[in-house]
Amino acid sequence: MRPYIITLSSEKGGVGKTTVATNLAIYLKALCEDLPVTIFSFDNHFTVDRLFRISKESANKKDILHLFTGDPAQELTELGQFGVQFVPSSRRLPEVRELLTDAASFARLLAASQLSGIVIIDTRPDLDPFTLNALFTSDRVIVPVKDLPSLENCKYLYEFFDRAKLSRRAVRLLPCLIDARIRFEGPFRDMRQLLRAYAINRGYRCMDGCITRSPKVDSLQTNPDGKVYPIISYGQHSDVHNQFTQLARQVLQDYRNEPARRLGQIAGDADPFEL
Ligand SMILES: Nc1ncnc2c1ncn2[C@@H]1O[C@H](COP(=O)(O)OP(=O)(O)O)[C@@H](O)[C@H]1O
Ligand SMILES: [Mg+2]
Repeated sequence: MRPYIITLSSEKGGVGKTTVATNLAIYLKALCEDLPVTIFSFDNHFTVDRLFRISKESANKKDILHLFTGDPAQELTELGQFGVQFVPSSRRLPEVRELLTDAASFARLLAASQLSGIVIIDTRPDLDPFTLNALFTSDRVIVPVKDLPSLENCKYLYEFFDRAKLSRRAVRLLPCLIDARIRFEGPFRDMRQLLRAYAINRGYRCMDGCITRSPKVDSLQTNPDGKVYPIISYGQHSDVHNQFTQLARQVLQDYRNEPARRLGQIAGDADPFEL
């Protein structure tokens, strides 16, 4: 069975992509221990490695760069905390940019791999060839939006979907970093409802629920220890814990209800799309 691929994407930085990608992986494993969950990042920071790596050193010294130079994905994965598998990150991805000759280049590499279950891809705040390849391959694209500018920005992602003749149904906006203290008079009582209304008005679909802003969550990523701590262990009594549980439940439901995998389709007959 081909893996179900979820990409976190937004051209805006600081909207919660990495926080959602990493913690979603953990909550998925918490809800479904048997499900293989693999995560990697096309960004040049090492949050994934810092959060998941068990041993001090990478086992095989290879990283996500080597996926593009032909190493099978399953041979690059390391078993990490919570049973989440990860492919180590790289700062050198731009060096292999030319190997992405069209939008399905990455899909062909993944299709030849033995990965199964759910694969989560964190991306840079940029619609660069790596992000476009991830989008092209995805069964689900989650776009965190925290305000109107980040929501307006989604139009470029949708434009890519239209140009590449991909179904817009794969894309779901997720209101993130919502300050629950802000209340409005009138029909839209809070930021989450307002963003949902804007999204629906533009014909965009949303995930159910949202992720609220929490100082606790922020401190799990930026602290004097220089470590990244998972919400499931340190934020259990927060609203965000319940929100991630709900998000993971929804993702699992979609994973089970949508048996046709994008990767299978690409390996079969998708039109190659020039970048
Ligand atoms: N729910 C949240 N509450 C408070 N701070 C958050 C939350 N989610 C993310 N952050 C903080 O916001 C910043 C950006 O988050 P991040 O996930 O790195 O976004 P992106 O990957 O889109 O750049 C980080 O400093 C992170 O700690
Ligand atoms: Mg990020």
